Amino acid sequence: MAWIVTAAPETRSTISTMTTTVLVFHPHRSTSRVNAALAASAQAAGVQVRHLYDLYPDFRIDVAAEQAVLEAADRIVLQFPMYWYSTPALLKQWQDDVLTWGWAYGSRGTALHGKELLVAVSPGAGADRYRRDGAYRYEVAELLRPLQATSNLIGTTFLRPFVTAGTMSISDDALAARAVEYAEALTAPRQVLGDLEV
Ligand SMILES: Cc1cc2nc3c(=O)[nH]c(=O)nc-3n(C[C@H](O)[C@H](O)[C@H](O)COP(=O)(O)O)c2cc1C
Repeated sequence: MAWIVTAAPETRSTISTMTTTVLVFHPHRSTSRVNAALAASAQAAGVQVRHLYDLYPDFRIDVAAEQAVLEAADRIVLQFPMYWYSTPALLKQWQDDVLTWGWAYGSRGTALHGKELLVAVSPGAGADRYRRDGAYRYEVAELLRPLQATSNLIGTTFLRPFVTAGTMSISDDALAARAVEYAEALTAPRQVLGDLEV
């Protein structure tokens, strides 16, 4: 990742040369409302968006191609609807296949070290359910622990997740606002986005 500051003080500005790549895992993209809106917003902001279920409907992932995608990225974004308090199946397959020993982890597996990992998840239920005193008893951040542990293993910085809760009932206006926030989050510097401390 590189941050370039222009020399002239009067025009001093910070220009990000960071490459952000969004990997969308949605098994039913044609009926998606929320993830479709978020992905469209990302794309409109100039961020590369890849729809993994379109690329690999048979779950036969091109490992070399996907590893090359990750190597070229500074910020890797995993975007998906929450399924069974977890991820859609292809994201698990992607982890199993792409994050290989000797490449992503192990003494010589340093390909992703220093990159950022951002999880963008959309639970259908409202945020009030995802509380210790709520109906589901766990916060979304707790349910994302396996991805956070994976991030720790592969040497990426786990950024504060972008959680869009209540997608079953989100209004058009709220969704449009969230899509704008998503584009801002994808292009925000790490200091703004924040690492996940908990
Ligand atoms: C198989 C399946 C499992 C789901 N599991 C959960 C869940 O565990 N928690 C939750 O809040 N919503 C769950 N949902 C709701 C989805 O997260 C919700 O439909 C999705 O975020 C909507 O996004 P979309 O418009 O992009 O499809 C589930 C939906 C399906 C189809």
